[in-house]
Amino acid sequence: MSIIQLHDKYFKTYIPKDEIAAATKRLVKQVAKDCKKETPIFIGILNGSFMFVADFVRKYKYNCEVSFVKLASYEGTNSTGKIRQLVGLNQDLEGRTVVILEDIIDTGNTLQEIYEIFKDKKVKQLKIATLFFKPDVFKKELPIDYIGISIPDKFIVGYGLDYDGLGRNYANIYQLIPKPKVKYILLFGPPGVGKGTQADLLKTKYNLVHISTGDVFRSHMKRETKLGILAKSYIDKGNLVPDDVTIKMLKSVVKKVPHSNGIIFDGFPRTINQAVALDKYLEENGETIAGMITIEVPTKSLIARLLERGKTSGRVEDQDENKILVRFNEYFTKTEELKEFYKAQGKYFGIDGVGEISDITERLSEVFDKL
Ligand code: IMP
Ligand code: MG
Repeated sequence: MSIIQLHDKYFKTYIPKDEIAAATKRLVKQVAKDCKKETPIFIGILNGSFMFVADFVRKYKYNCEVSFVKLASYEGTNSTGKIRQLVGLNQDLEGRTVVILEDIIDTGNTLQEIYEIFKDKKVKQLKIATLFFKPDVFKKELPIDYIGISIPDKFIVGYGLDYDGLGRNYANIYQLIPKPKVKYILLFGPPGVGKGTQADLLKTKYNLVHISTGDVFRSHMKRETKLGILAKSYIDKGNLVPDDVTIKMLKSVVKKVPHSNGIIFDGFPRTINQAVALDKYLEENGETIAGMITIEVPTKSLIARLLERGKTSGRVEDQDENKILVRFNEYFTKTEELKEFYKAQGKYFGIDGVGEISDITERLSEVFDKL
């Protein structure tokens, strides 16, 4: 199943293109049975029906004509207000068999207007075929001759159908769903423990977005933004960037994240203050932290790992053992308190970070699956 976002709404896969094709084939068969002895005029109602009509007529193997019309509203001169008319119908329909091809019939209001408009066209017969039909909301006593797929009263998009202009180009049909809960997962551990490596692997596996405060800061520093220059003055000394700066930056990043199953924060929050600010921010948006996972590795082996990384990564803070020790000290004095903070909320998980990368991913996955 996949989820798409159009404007402010979310939709999940509902009717795959194969099922649409099968329904279209059934409709063609029924229509052909009734109309193949003459040359019907298929009239698609724009915009929604363009894809359906294209597929329908391609499957129809007998003589036919194809036309499109659009229902357009204009303000009437009298008190009746809006008057709707068909635009694009410049053909003589007298004595012809007309088959209206609709993408969807919902309340039936549109269908009723079509019946009204065709009343005086002296057609031989007027038939209606619709790909989708919502029986629960259809309120009219009007005949619908051919129905492809009946669906419950839920808004759909794709295959010609739109939500406020978007979504017509999808081959499958998607159904409106409530805004999916985004999982916020905090990945913890002292510097060099493999948070970045693991977050990269997990984000692919679970369709998550990985936000590393370190990476965001480094990007700002590289571009020498105001925030970057400020952050650099702290980071180069091995100190933490002040809470207010970090929080402001993080909020702006979270807002820009595209839809995903969740977000892994790596390197944030670092202090109780930041954790409280994050909880408050998420709460305001009806969200919450799913869990805090710490990767645990003995410090000795980590110092060696970091110095090794410092040789190639260009990260100044990894090139000097004293700076590394400052960060460990920061981690164990400030960040360790966070364990207690999340433990109190029943959201703390610790995993053993010694071993092969894939083993550690496996251990993390066991926790992720529970969240
Ligand atoms: P009616 O309620 O049958 O008149 O449908 C009016 C129009 O609303 C249809 O022609 C579609 O353009 C649109 N519509 C109704 N239901 C849906 C839906 O689920 N998705 C997208 N458009 C819809
Ligand atoms: Mg329509």
